Amino acid sequence: MTVQRVGVVGAGTMGTGIAQVFARTGHAVILCDLEAAILDRAFGNIRRNLERELGKGKITAAEQAETFERITTASDRSRLQECDFVVEAASEKLEIKSELFRDLDSICRPEVVLASNTSSISITKLAAVTRRPEKVIGMHFFNPVPVMKLVELVRGLATSEEAANLARELAMKLGKTPVEVEDAPGFVSNRVLMPLLNEAMFAVMEGVATPTAIDEVFKLGMNHPMGPLALADLIGLDVCLDIMRVLQSGLGDPKYRPCPLLVKMVDAGRLGRKSGRGFYQY
Ligand code: CAA
Repeated sequence: MTVQRVGVVGAGTMGTGIAQVFARTGHAVILCDLEAAILDRAFGNIRRNLERELGKGKITAAEQAETFERITTASDRSRLQECDFVVEAASEKLEIKSELFRDLDSICRPEVVLASNTSSISITKLAAVTRRPEKVIGMHFFNPVPVMKLVELVRGLATSEEAANLARELAMKLGKTPVEVEDAPGFVSNRVLMPLLNEAMFAVMEGVATPTAIDEVFKLGMNHPMGPLALADLIGLDVCLDIMRVLQSGLGDPKYRPCPLLVKMVDAGRLGRKSGRGFYQY
């Protein structure tokens, strides 16, 4: 099947980036979110990103205009019936995603593959709420989506070869490199990354070092582009907490216990860059 029109559900940081890269590579995009204010912010962010790329000479003015024109926003999910492929990028909560997949299954044409950008939730579980489990797959993008090359491709128990092939081809069209992993809590990326971030938070909580000192250790000692606390702020502390909880309940090992400081910061609304304050102030 040729994918011409792509639906992106959820216009947060990840959904916005995913919509941008699909539009940039010639796909018409319907970016869907319940809240008009979130859609407006997403549109503004895409506009700013494209202006920055134009300013750097990475795209032409015509490419900028065409990319922008390919994106439509919608608060009504039924618009997704026009789409040939859908990527869900809603909150990292099983109940929210399950409800969404049930809905997408009834809205989208039966042949349409439904992908989830989930960073840790079981694709098999999401597939099981639909009548097309063979057409459900994980396509896990990384933040900032326009920059990061990886797409973690996750097959659920029932995912067909055809669906995997289509998602792989699409990822490559976007200029990304798909890496296939099994459906397990946190897949590979977050199974390994999140405990590192969580441990860095324990070090802050126990007064071992300041966030800046911890981040310097990783930047200068391990050549990481940013330290674990700056990265947690970039990802969003609420997202980090949701993922730690999926690891904790899915793997059952106490080593995945979320750091109490992380829980407290999320309770306080300090979510990182997106809220203006996390381990750093923005
Ligand atoms: N959107 C588009 N482009 C962006 C961007 C954004 N939000 N942020 C940065 N960029 C671009 C810049 O325009 C710049 O482009 P050029 O090289 O063409 O000039 C390039 O990225 C580098 O940016 P900067 O010079 O401003 O800053 P930097 O060199 O410090 O890089 C960074 C910024 C790319 C974010 C880098 O620090 C980095 O790679 N950090 C690690 C990010 C990471 O690990 N992401 C994965 C998080 S895990 C995840 O997302 C999955 C999950 O499930 C939790």
